[in-house]
Amino acid sequence: MPLGISQKAGNIAPSATLAMDAKAKAMKAAGENVIGLAAGEPDFDTPETVRDAMKEALDLGMTRYSPVPGTLELRKAIIEKFKRDNGLTYTPDQIIVSNGAKHSLYNVFFALLDEGDEVIIPSPCWVSYPEIVRMVGGVPVFVPSGEREGFIPTPAALEAAVSPRTKAFILTSPNNPNGCVWPRAALETLADLAVRHNFYVVADEIYEMLIYGTEKHVSIASLGDEILARTIVINGVSKTYAMTGFRIGYAAGPREVIAAMTNAQSQATSGPNTPAQHAALRALIMPQDCVETMRRSFEERRDAIVKGVNAIPGLSCLKPDGAFYVMMNVTRLLGKRCGERKIEDCAAFADALLSEVKVVTVPGNAFMAEGYCRLSYATSMDNIQEGLRRIEAFVKTLV
Ligand SMILES: Cc1ncc(COP(=O)(O)O)c(C=O)c1O
Repeated sequence: MPLGISQKAGNIAPSATLAMDAKAKAMKAAGENVIGLAAGEPDFDTPETVRDAMKEALDLGMTRYSPVPGTLELRKAIIEKFKRDNGLTYTPDQIIVSNGAKHSLYNVFFALLDEGDEVIIPSPCWVSYPEIVRMVGGVPVFVPSGEREGFIPTPAALEAAVSPRTKAFILTSPNNPNGCVWPRAALETLADLAVRHNFYVVADEIYEMLIYGTEKHVSIASLGDEILARTIVINGVSKTYAMTGFRIGYAAGPREVIAAMTNAQSQATSGPNTPAQHAALRALIMPQDCVETMRRSFEERRDAIVKGVNAIPGLSCLKPDGAFYVMMNVTRLLGKRCGERKIEDCAAFADALLSEVKVVTVPGNAFMAEGYCRLSYATSMDNIQEGLRRIEAFVKTLV
């Protein structure tokens, strides 16, 4: 008889975005002419000076364990980054470097949650939040919002989600999957709520440098001392510097929370990859013009994909202010047929899109957003145009 696995592990859903991306890569490797619009990572090369720093690190003998919360040099550079970009002041014992922002998120919820503690998550939401919360015994409480509200829950909806068990709120701005950027007024409302009801805000700011048009990134932690004392900012080098494979993320927050995260990290994984920390340090202190160059490219691609989707009869999307995703609304096409197959929901739509015209997207149900498919524009303009052409051709075949 098989011994089996724990109930806890059995309840965890695999990451749908990574699964879709793996599917696209496998099809490509098998020689199929696939257009991948599912990727959650910049397609640009990692800046040369960062690559050089990684190589240099090995020659400098940076091949040993690092301090558990990360090297002091990197933590100091992170402190400078927070000062420069966010107007925030931290000390080294308020910073922890981890194996990517995802690991920082796991650590923070491990540090904050007791069994049954609630975490408010605006939905649609990134796939990993509810699973991480559940993995450490917490209970996700979703606050749905839609296109009408620009994917930002109303103050009344936020207030209604608070209960005596509320321990934390996940704020993702710019957002994955919908690209929305919370305006200052919405951040102020949330900060007021968190202070009044005394819960933490976990502010995932991994896309902070990818904002388009006139919106500006504001860290909720910068809105006053009371909210600063309740905020753990999560960030990393993956998206800003095209360094997803380096696996370096970080968190900043109240000392006791960072200390608890450091204890957890010391037992589970030790300090993060030493040479990758040296490369991340270089990324943070180098001239930042390559970040602006990548941002401008993303903005052009966003404009192209938004225009293209809205030109296809039956499909539409909002124009997001940040990150590199759009939520393509497919609701008007549900119920139609693709040959023998009925397109009942967004998962069936994404599936048919893949098998009929070899375009990879992520169905919205992965993000608690039935009726949508998420398109990533972290790919070349040629791929975007070809992807849109195929999507249009596919839609024309639906009856
Ligand atoms: C909202 C959000 N937070 C965190 C992460 C994880 O980033 P990292 O590569 O640093 O683990 C991602 C990656 O897709 C993301 O979209």
